[in-house]
Amino acid sequence: MSETVTIFEVGPRDGLQNEDALIATENKIALVDMLSDCGLSKIEVTSFVSPKWVPQMADAADVMAGIKRKPGVTYAALTPNLRGFQAAQAAGADEVAIFASASEGFSQHNINCSVAESLERFAPVAKAAIDAGLQVRGYVSCVAECPYDGLTPPQQVADVTKALIDLGCYQVSLGDTIGRATADQIASMLETVLLRTPVNQLAGHFHDTHGGAISNIAVSLERGIRCFDTSIAGLGGCPYAPGAAGNVSTESVAAFLADQGFKTGLDLQKIAKAAQFAITLRTTT
Ligand code: HMG
Ligand code: MG
Repeated sequence: MSETVTIFEVGPRDGLQNEDALIATENKIALVDMLSDCGLSKIEVTSFVSPKWVPQMADAADVMAGIKRKPGVTYAALTPNLRGFQAAQAAGADEVAIFASASEGFSQHNINCSVAESLERFAPVAKAAIDAGLQVRGYVSCVAECPYDGLTPPQQVADVTKALIDLGCYQVSLGDTIGRATADQIASMLETVLLRTPVNQLAGHFHDTHGGAISNIAVSLERGIRCFDTSIAGLGGCPYAPGAAGNVSTESVAAFLADQGFKTGLDLQKIAKAAQFAITLRTTT
């Protein structure tokens, strides 16, 4: 029997957060609803961050309120602090994510604090979520390279990953935020991370600026990772990682995994339709 790989759809958040023009809330809702119908089990819908930092996500509560909840789908949201967590919980998020960086430069630019300060800020968020019965996911950005600090030593990735696991994250998603990592860089980063964190608690989050994301998924699959973040139509990027492209597209990863003999549960025709709709929302070239 073929093995299952989870595709964690992050397009509505990681994709749309990077669009310059404000996208209508009803279109965000329509995109999430189309994605819910594709066989995805995990969808990151939005983020409860400061609207001064990411104006595109200012309608997070309205998006959460407007989507149709499909049984069996986990609807997740990014939460940078307790205030964000409380808003996400009130909006009915099934799962929240705390997001740290392996590099200081990106941490300062993205969440306005050091890596150590961010972990202190995330501790009460994780605790509140777990106490409320919600799962907490962690992100580590810049696992290979940082737009401000250059190459990231794998040890820093391993340390932050372990710290997030210790805060109670069920899984940590390793982000090549600027999408420039080579398969060799990912392999050596994983070798170090896996010394301290079990593979079943890791996911891969590869932006695809240089077309290397599928190779990075392949090398991660070889090391045993079975969950990958993708963005419908490859939408997006990060406002604080200038020049970075979106996450690798859901449709290319779904096709690649099917080709490699993995099961994803995705309906590829519906994914293709959702991708067509997502492209119509794109405002940033
Ligand atoms: P700050 O300016 O240091 O903190 O921001 P603050 O507490 O002074 O807050 C600034 C303003 O935001 C205040 O408003 C707060 O009330 C408000 P003012 O008093 O000036 O009117 N505020 C909030 N509003 C709504 N919801 C909240 C919230 N918190 C504060 N939760 C902060 C610190 C962390 C809030 C800010 O830096 C922030 O929101 N950053 C988020 C940046 C972001 O969303 N980046 C993109 C996502 S990360 C990513 O894409 C990477 C990832 O995909 C993985 C990868 O690819 O590597 C996950
Ligand atoms: Mg990202």
